[in-house]
Amino acid sequence: MIIEPRMRGFICLTAHPEGCAQSVKNQIEYVKSKGKINAPKRVLVVGASTGFGLASRITAAFGNDAATIGVFFEKEPAPGKTATPGWYNSAAFEQEAKKAGLYAKSINGDAFSKEVKQQTIDMIKADLGQVDLIIYSLASPVRMHPETGVLHRSALKPIGQTFTDKTVDFHTGNVTQVSIEPAVQEDIDNTVVVMGGEDWKMWTDAMKKAGVLADGATTVAYSYIGPEVTSAVYRKGTIGQAKNHLEATAFEITDSLKDIGGKAYVSVNKALVTQASSAIPVIPLYISLLYKTMKAKGLHEGCIEQMQRLFADRLYNGGEVPLDAEGRIRIDDWEMRDDIQEAVKTLWAQADTETLKEIGDLAGYKNDFLNLFGFGFQGVDYLADANEMVQIESIS
Ligand code: NAD
Ligand code: NA
Repeated sequence: MIIEPRMRGFICLTAHPEGCAQSVKNQIEYVKSKGKINAPKRVLVVGASTGFGLASRITAAFGNDAATIGVFFEKEPAPGKTATPGWYNSAAFEQEAKKAGLYAKSINGDAFSKEVKQQTIDMIKADLGQVDLIIYSLASPVRMHPETGVLHRSALKPIGQTFTDKTVDFHTGNVTQVSIEPAVQEDIDNTVVVMGGEDWKMWTDAMKKAGVLADGATTVAYSYIGPEVTSAVYRKGTIGQAKNHLEATAFEITDSLKDIGGKAYVSVNKALVTQASSAIPVIPLYISLLYKTMKAKGLHEGCIEQMQRLFADRLYNGGEVPLDAEGRIRIDDWEMRDDIQEAVKTLWAQADTETLKEIGDLAGYKNDFLNLFGFGFQGVDYLADANEMVQIESIS
């Protein structure tokens, strides 16, 4: 069928299989163009189908020929109905890995569950024996707790007081004021349960117990800090509490892996257009001003550039892993540079529906958003019939 983007608020209801494949191929080409990285050979990626997790998987596989297992939660296609983009991304990734002679298998299910953890452990045991690196890159609005069966829902709210500032509807370019009521304690608690570190530690505990963590195994999860203008809704809001918890959990995991010489890191990544970030108020306006500023200075990066740099310059640079005062890896270093943040702050004060066309990179935002769903890629014939029924080889 001919597949077109069908937008509904912050999501797109359709995805283009060939466009998603093109996106994966472009990312593979980028990693290959940067040369070999002396990184681990057996890698598990939890949250492997889109965004930073997919880029991590591609970097591991095509940066150093790693065998990868990817875990994700995506919707498969049905006749006349496309799959979610992560499904098509993963199908394309497996195909490219196979062509390159690389082991790649995937598990589609709820990573928060005991069953999916066990399934993953069984697959590692059967195929790889152990893994040397676990990337933890889940972004989810809900988590069914595996012990209590309670379904927790995260919130994106300020804490303590109502937040009022500008936001943009990135489809129309309209800049308006948004007000968000403060969280109640339950919102904070739920957000920490969903996006904090508890599940990350459950993964490493279960894997260690099963003996599938190699000596010296490393695990990395992703965090965000960002500027003053987004802090009320992000770092000082409910999601920030979850990120504080995630960051604290890294030290707990490192402690628990002492006897095998293992280590847990949090990497603070750059703000980028992903399915997760486009749903957060205020962030799209910030990103459109940030993109404009960083592109003008030649400092712009997408997920793949960020993950390639994380592996090559931070985790596997041949020496110490550089950390900040709180023990975190920082690849948001260019975003947080004083000159970038000063420029964005000035633009923020000027931003309205009229000025944004000039001072913001709304076109870049929209293009990245379309790209998430496989639309807007050069070399893809969007007027041609596409096969929506693409399968993932290791799953079907
Ligand atoms: P994303 O939405 O692109 O990716 C989320 C991944 O999690 C997908 O692979 C999805 O299938 C998987 N997933 C979601 N729920 C699942 C479940 N129940 N079981 C199994 N898999 C599930 O998000 P992203 O932006 O790449 O975020 C990844 C991490 O990076 C998050 O911790 C996020 O906070 C962090 N981060 C994001 C940004 C940003 O600007 N996007 C910046 C810094 C850090
Ligand atoms: Na991800």
